[in-house]
Amino acid sequence: MSDLEITHPKIYEYLEKTLSEETPILKEMGDYGRAQGFPIIGAQAGRMLHFLARAIGAKNVLELGSGFGYSAMWFALAVGDGGQVIMTEGKQSNQDRARDYFTRAGLVERVEFNVGDALEIAKKYPGPFDIIFCDIDKHDYPKAITIAREKLRVGGILIYDNMLWHGRVVSQTDADTNAILETTRALLDDETFFTTLMPLRDGQSLSLRIK
Ligand SMILES: C[S@@+](CC[C@H](N)C(=O)[O-])C[C@H]1O[C@@H](n2cnc3c(N)ncnc32)[C@H](O)[C@@H]1O
Repeated sequence: MSDLEITHPKIYEYLEKTLSEETPILKEMGDYGRAQGFPIIGAQAGRMLHFLARAIGAKNVLELGSGFGYSAMWFALAVGDGGQVIMTEGKQSNQDRARDYFTRAGLVERVEFNVGDALEIAKKYPGPFDIIFCDIDKHDYPKAITIAREKLRVGGILIYDNMLWHGRVVSQTDADTNAILETTRALLDDETFFTTLMPLRDGQSLSLRIK
């Protein structure tokens, strides 16, 4: 079965047109990602990340799977002076590109660059974090819940991207889709969190830490 459209194409087009990038550097990053076919979260979901971070006054964000810094830039703009976004990325070239964007945006003080396995790097940060955002390879999604249990403060939010996985959650049973379904079920069953799903772009889970 082919992938499903999550949002009606005309509504998707309307959202894409209406919810644009906030700053010239973000626009430049978005244009680069779109031109390269690099899977960034996009402005629709980027705005939601930014909104949530500002709504809870987030100062410390842990990002698992940062690419060249597009989603981290939305967070960095939200945390304000003195805020910190810990980036983690497997590829050095992506973090080099990120460093250039953050330097030119005058926001390099608000981020920490890390290259390597995100789940390993996370171990060296005790937290507590206000937000943990997970966007790594899907087969590793269930493992990030343990990190959130250890390092997310009560009142903080664990966010996963791609939780509708191009609609495959209702049509396929490959390993990545199964890992996403397992993560969704685990979040919903976990009394540490109150979890919901947002059908924005490729879908995000939002889990508020309640105890
Ligand atoms: C979907 S892209 C992330 C994009 C970024 N969050 C954004 O929206 O701008 C996923 C990125 O995570 C990286 N990645 C995947 N699994 C990883 C892991 N286990 N550790 C570190 N980086 C990982 C990939 O190299 C890729 O750059």
